[in-house]
Amino acid sequence: MKAVTWQGKRDVRVEEVPDPVIEQPTDAIIRVTSSGLCGSDLHLYEVLAPFMTEGDILGHEPMGVVEEVGSQVTGLAPGDRVVVPFNISCGSCWMCDQKLYSQCETTQVSDEGMGAALFGYTKLYGQVPGGQAEYLRVPQAQFGPIKVPDGPSDDRFVYLSDVLPTAWQALEYAGVPDGGSVAVIGLGPIGDMACRIALHRGHRVFGLDHVPERLARARDRGVQTVDVSDSDTDAGDVVRELTGGRGPDSVIDAVGMEAHGSTGSKIAQHLAGLLPDAVSQPMMAKVGLDRLSAFYAAIDMVRRGGTISLSGVYGGQTDPLPMLTLFDKQVQLRMGQANVRRWSDDILPLLVDDADPLGVESFATHHVPLSEAPSAYADFQAKRNGTVKVLFKP
Ligand SMILES: NC(=O)c1ccc[n+]([C@@H]2O[C@H](COP(=O)([O-])OP(=O)(O)OC[C@H]3O[C@@H](n4cnc5c(N)ncnc54)[C@H](O)[C@@H]3O)[C@@H](O)[C@H]2O)c1
Ligand SMILES: [Zn+2]
Ligand SMILES: [Zn+2]
Repeated sequence: MKAVTWQGKRDVRVEEVPDPVIEQPTDAIIRVTSSGLCGSDLHLYEVLAPFMTEGDILGHEPMGVVEEVGSQVTGLAPGDRVVVPFNISCGSCWMCDQKLYSQCETTQVSDEGMGAALFGYTKLYGQVPGGQAEYLRVPQAQFGPIKVPDGPSDDRFVYLSDVLPTAWQALEYAGVPDGGSVAVIGLGPIGDMACRIALHRGHRVFGLDHVPERLARARDRGVQTVDVSDSDTDAGDVVRELTGGRGPDSVIDAVGMEAHGSTGSKIAQHLAGLLPDAVSQPMMAKVGLDRLSAFYAAIDMVRRGGTISLSGVYGGQTDPLPMLTLFDKQVQLRMGQANVRRWSDDILPLLVDDADPLGVESFATHHVPLSEAPSAYADFQAKRNGTVKVLFKP
């Protein structure tokens, strides 16, 4: 089959690889019909390169049709249409019982001290072959895949794998009070969808980014946008002014470790990427290499006693944090990988609603064949050609 493979820093290629086969009685094989390209893939494309191996199959946002199931997969049959959550969870361990599916104790990558295995995501997360491919082996298929109805287009459902539950959890963790306000920093797919969900819930929503078409997309749906590229304006001051001087009740950081405006850490990330993996892996995990400007902005902006919800991915350890401000402002902080199946049943009704309240039908900016993966990755990273969300159509 054809698959998008990682070959080096900023080097992905479509290669012919062996078709996946059932390895465990709890596996299923699906034929992939749509597969998203995510901001998390961009971390692998460059910054997290030391944790990758040449030939790794990328992708963690797939949906498709079941081809074959293992003997213990009783809830699925060939022909079923399914979306595959990006985290792999068993559904029956202690953590899964708490609905903390991204911490599943059956699939935890304990050798690395990490949580549940993820598709297409580095040695830290189990090096499981990913879903930007024609076929995918789905471990723990007795629990993971979400069955969706035949009929509506893939675009209706594919974001259940990651974007929707991640943005939904961002809002749940943000704890915005009824009629309250939330600022969303970063208007990539995750931040954009978080804004849509927040508007749907009746909150007042501020959206911050520096990419004109991303700001425009959010503004068109009713978000009050702030362009952070304007160096004369302090984003915190702008949002405070719009909220009676107090700041928003909640702030969602949908940027993560590759934030713009943190020059020192950017150089450190770059240098770590040049070192041999054996040196740079421990360095990246143990030393602070995150670019924290979005998080710092969130700490500055949130009102006293408010909540910050981090959905952007961070990776370092010893980055300096303004503990004085966090403590004095009495900030609440929640974060983590999305527990996909925790939210999917809550979201599904919005996706089969003819009115398409979250605008998923027109959310993707690009539908491309796998063969265009190299240019799609490059365009998404450079934010070129209006690239906000790419769906591969294997
Ligand atoms: N928690 C989870 O389960 C989960 C799931 C999916 C993605 N993520 C993470 O969410 C983040 C966003 O993903 P995405 O797909 O939307 O990616 P993306 O890279 O397209 O979005 C990031 C956006 O932030 C903007 N940005 C960068 N620096 C900024 C700054 N200082 N201030 C304001 N805006 C800034 C960029 O212009 C871009 O639009 C990534 O870190 C990704 O890894 C987390
Ligand atoms: Zn993703
Ligand atoms: Zn589990």
